[in-house]
Amino acid sequence: MITFHTIDDTRCWIKDRRQAGMKLGFVPTMGALHEGHLDLVRRSVAGNSLTAVSIFVNPIQFNNPDDLGKYPRTLEKDERLLDQTGCDLVFAPSVEEMYPSPAREKYDFGELEKVMEGASRPGHFNGVAVVVKKLFDIITPNRAYFGEKDYQQLRIIQTLVEMERIPVEIIPVPTIREPDGLAMSSRNRHLTKGERTIAHEIYQVLLEIRRNAGKISIAKVKEQAVSRLEKGGFICDYIEIASAASLRPLESWDEKVPARAFVACYLGNVRLIDNLEIIL
Ligand code: PAF
Repeated sequence: MITFHTIDDTRCWIKDRRQAGMKLGFVPTMGALHEGHLDLVRRSVAGNSLTAVSIFVNPIQFNNPDDLGKYPRTLEKDERLLDQTGCDLVFAPSVEEMYPSPAREKYDFGELEKVMEGASRPGHFNGVAVVVKKLFDIITPNRAYFGEKDYQQLRIIQTLVEMERIPVEIIPVPTIREPDGLAMSSRNRHLTKGERTIAHEIYQVLLEIRRNAGKISIAKVKEQAVSRLEKGGFICDYIEIASAASLRPLESWDEKVPARAFVACYLGNVRLIDNLEIIL
């Protein structure tokens, strides 16, 4: 496994292998890797002749400077973990390398970016789209792997690829969970011991929504979910039942519209998100 910090070195290494006809899988990350990331990387290693992983804490997708400052940067540990997965290339650029001048691109994802995370974190998805487009231009992968944990991000990337006609196959990967059901996330490390022991309640709430789907009204299901979380010590940002494709919030159950349940809430200072497919 080799690590490059510059775009030129990365392009050159990839070009040689591409010319030899090798297929490239890509996993973009912001580092602080956990099992969820490593699962994406292992899938890429299993399905492609080469795997590249980017590690870049993208400043333009953070709305809160504190969040950006606090984001864990653990490159050496990440490299050690990646080395064990069969990853071939790590691209770990500096901010100056990625943004020699401020990014100006503005994407319009319509409704997709106006709901849930888009409403709570203005500008976040534009920042994600700008960096992922740049990374795709540099890495030129055949396939790129994204976790369903960040489902709205996955839909934004799928839309970006369609809009910009980027020749890459996006592979969605189911969420990896801790044994108690908590979705793996780099933010989990900020939970106190006490918070960690109750954080799995989010998954229990999602499972309860799934059990009640089609049986009681969406309004009631959402009300029950908020009340259960708030009783458990969480502060709810949103609970939504939305179309899995358009992310349009649904007001009634409809077997013809594949749906997902989405949660965002705070446990202490940590904002956690999760989502689950609804089966009617
Ligand atoms: O999901 C993430 O870690 C980031 O949003 C991504 C896709 C690496 C872009 O910075």
